[in-house]
Amino acid sequence: MAEGKHELLERLAGQIRACTNCALCETRNQTVPGEGHFNARVVFVGEAPGADEDEQGRPFVGRSGQLLRQTIREVGWSENDVYIANVLKCRPPGNRDPEDLEINACRSWLIAQLVTIRPRLIVTLGRHSMALLIKPGMKITQDRGKHVRRDGFVILPTYHPSAVLRDSNKLEDFRKDLLKARRLSDVIDDNGRLNV
Ligand code: URA
Repeated sequence: MAEGKHELLERLAGQIRACTNCALCETRNQTVPGEGHFNARVVFVGEAPGADEDEQGRPFVGRSGQLLRQTIREVGWSENDVYIANVLKCRPPGNRDPEDLEINACRSWLIAQLVTIRPRLIVTLGRHSMALLIKPGMKITQDRGKHVRRDGFVILPTYHPSAVLRDSNKLEDFRKDLLKARRLSDVIDDNGRLNV
């Protein structure tokens, strides 16, 4: 029988745990492949694991993760509706920005996860996932909250939750964007068509 989505995602996670595509494999404690449901309606894509994630091997488990997970619940999604991943699967030392070389070495893992899950919607968190999945050079303050179509996916960019923690003025827009994401995911059919 053909491998199902669940098995495929598990196999990918195993391959990610063994990955030595870039030098971050030398400094990581654990890889952070991602977590959530194989049939998720929405995939959230952050930047890279921080210290907590590197220790636990799970995405968004620190302070910014609490904000993200709480807002996900507030807009009415359950654990089974979402998958949470990052552009980089390993922590950059000292939480520095991801380098181009690292993003290029890691991107195929994320693409394989997205193609496997085939979510109705992708929500990019912050500029790195927005640049990778939509296009480079976009401005988060101008482009957040506006959904676009790319490669058969509907993608909605919003702030990274750690930017929201640094500036509470962003909280309202962050909530608004996730609420919009929730509504969009209800009107996108399984073929990626928007029925509005
Ligand atoms: N920030 C991210 O971008 N990803 C995480 O998993 C945690 C913090």
